[in-house]
Amino acid sequence: NMRQPIMAGNWKMNPATEADALNLANGFCALLNEMADTCAMDDKEGCTEVVLFPPFPFISKVKDIVAKNGISVGAQQVYYEDKGAFTGSVAASMVKSVGCEYVLCGHSERRTLFSDSDVNINSKVKKVLEFGMKPILCIGETQEEYDLKITKEVCAMQVSKDLAGVSKQEMKNVVIAYEPVWAIGTGLVCDAESANEVHKYIRSVLSKMYDDEVAQSMRIQYGGSVTPDSVDGLMAMSDIDGCLVGGASLYADKFARIVNFQP
Ligand code: G3H
Repeated sequence: NMRQPIMAGNWKMNPATEADALNLANGFCALLNEMADTCAMDDKEGCTEVVLFPPFPFISKVKDIVAKNGISVGAQQVYYEDKGAFTGSVAASMVKSVGCEYVLCGHSERRTLFSDSDVNINSKVKKVLEFGMKPILCIGETQEEYDLKITKEVCAMQVSKDLAGVSKQEMKNVVIAYEPVWAIGTGLVCDAESANEVHKYIRSVLSKMYDDEVAQSMRIQYGGSVTPDSVDGLMAMSDIDGCLVGGASLYADKFARIVNFQP
């Protein structure tokens, strides 16, 4: 497949201080530079794109550290309004202006803990695109939905609602992350074959919504307890184009190994 791999580290609400965040970014870059065959993006054929998602207060300084390694930064979330009396919220223009290239939209923690609905997520996806950034749309079934064997239905519903009104042209800038909610932060990584089946199914949904070109060029990441032990098997799959990594991205050595996966 011709899709460029994309590895993302979602730091969530970690680490506790700016000093710790800069330490992590520096440690990660130092390890990448040591690795002979570093995959970090430098526009080489076949190289891997790497994105870090630090908490808002750390984005600028982390970007200053990682940009020279060809690594980009993104925001974990934005609000869909442009500006105004929305205390505590952050606008797309703001994260764009401090150098964010990507924004996570619809992460399951936002959906469940902060009541992000599909309608709101759709507005956020469109706002991110409007500001020339790239949404990583996170979808996936809960444990309950998994037990009910409705994984495909849930993913199809989320893709159609969250991408409603997004044009074929705009889809070039969209990445999807399939994250089974029961696999997030649990250590229960989805087995590679099963994840790949869902990725293929998501492509079939995109093919119906758009066309085969969009479906085949869309990068689809897997997320949920990815570690150095599971990454190679996942990345060997035909339709898994990268990983969205939480816990393991907080360890420079683990995330450097994940970025340098060996398919
Ligand atoms: O955004 C990342 C995912 O929620 C996965 O988190 O790797 O800690 O399971 P995790």
